[in-house]
This record gives sequence, C-alpha cells and structure tokens, in this order.
Amino acid sequence: MNFVSIQDTSKETIDAFDCGSDELNEFIRKYAKQNDKKDIGKTFVCTEDDHIIGYYTLSNAQIMFENTPKELSKGLPKYPIPCIRIARLAIDRRFQNEGYGSSLLKNALLKIVRLSEHTGIYFIIVDAKESSASFYEHYGFIRLNMGNLTYIIPVSTVRKAIVNH
Ligand SMILES: CC(C)(COP(=O)(O)OP(=O)(O)OC[C@H]1O[C@@H](n2cnc3c(N)ncnc32)[C@H](O)[C@@H]1OP(=O)(O)O)[C@@H](O)C(=O)NCCC(=O)NCCS
Repeated sequence: MNFVSIQDTSKETIDAFDCGSDELNEFIRKYAKQNDKKDIGKTFVCTEDDHIIGYYTLSNAQIMFENTPKELSKGLPKYPIPCIRIARLAIDRRFQNEGYGSSLLKNALLKIVRLSEHTGIYFIIVDAKESSASFYEHYGFIRLNMGNLTYIIPVSTVRKAIVNH
C-alpha cells in the first residue's frame, strides 16, 4: 500500500473518491488540500494505481482534564491534555470491509507514536460517526463521557500494542 500526501494527488483522482458519506466526500474534494497547505490538518491518502482507497487527516487537539474519563486520568496534571486528533478517516465504497480501514488506522497510529517521541501527546482522539463508532471500539478506543461520538485512547496503550506485536 502506498501512502502519499494529499498534495501529491490530482484533482481527478480526488473527485472520484466516494466513501458514501457526503460530509467526508466533500471534505476531501473541497477542503483537504487547502487545509493541508495552511497547516490546519494534514491529509494522507492511500492509493493504488490511480485511485484513492482511503484517506485520513491529522491535527492537534487538547482535552480538558475534567472531560477525561476517570479510568484514564490517574496521575495526569489538571491542565488541558495534549492530543492528536484523527479528524477524518474514510475508505472508498468499492474497498470497504476488506481490511483497508484497519490498515489506514494502523498507519495513522504508527505515525502518531513516532511523533510522540518528539512532542507531548497523551491521547489520540477520534470523532466517529454513528456508522463507524463500533469500528473504533473494536480497536480499544474509549468513548468520552460528553454525549457525543468522541473516542480516545492513550498513546502509551498504542505504543505497547505496537511493541508487543
Ligand atoms: C468505517 C470505515 C473506516 C471502516 O473501514 P473498512 O475498510 O470498511 O473496515 P475494515 O475492513 O478494515 O474492518 C476492520 C475491522 O473493523 C470491523 N468494522 C469495519 N467497519 C465497521 C463498522 N462500521 N462498525 C463496526 N466494526 C466495523 C470489521 O468487522 C473488521 O473486524 P475484524 O478485524 O475482526 O475482521 C469505512 O467503512 C468507511 O470509510 N465508512 C464510511 C465513512 C465513515 O463512516 N468514516 C468514519 C468517520 S471518522
């Protein structure tokens, strides 16, 4: 599998992407390149031949200590906690349920673990959709107690999983 920056992907290739979610399609078609260029969110695209299998976008985030689930907040300072957000992750309809979502998630997690050697990142945050909430639960993400579909996992948990793999 080949991962490249959205900047190295042509408009025709991007326009052909369809994951079944209007919001996620619109984001990659209209905003991903410009947000990437402006350093708002970095989008990585998984390609095969000249089509996009899937993409994900990373940005920085923080969560307030008070919003951190009790089981994950032991020993944390009572400051905003630094995080990386997987802001979007989507697979083209033609390739769903073939393991690509899992591969993209692993690629994103590996990248975040590498980044965590250079800057403070305590949690990884994901804003799931109704349709993908159980996908993230499957990988050990824990739902934040905020009445929405925000999920988190400590970087240390992911790091251990990678080392033990
Ligand atoms: C949700 C999505 C990213 C999953 O990617 P995928 O390539 O279809 O999933 P995979 O084939 O890699 O599945 C990996 C595992 O997660 C499970 N899984 C996949 N989609 C799931 C879902 N929606 N809910 C629950 N579990 C799911 C699979 O059963 C599989 O389990 P296994 O490893 O035990 O076999 C993809 O279907 C998608 O882009 N959907 C539309 C857009 C969307 O909702 N994106 C998420 C917004 S952030």
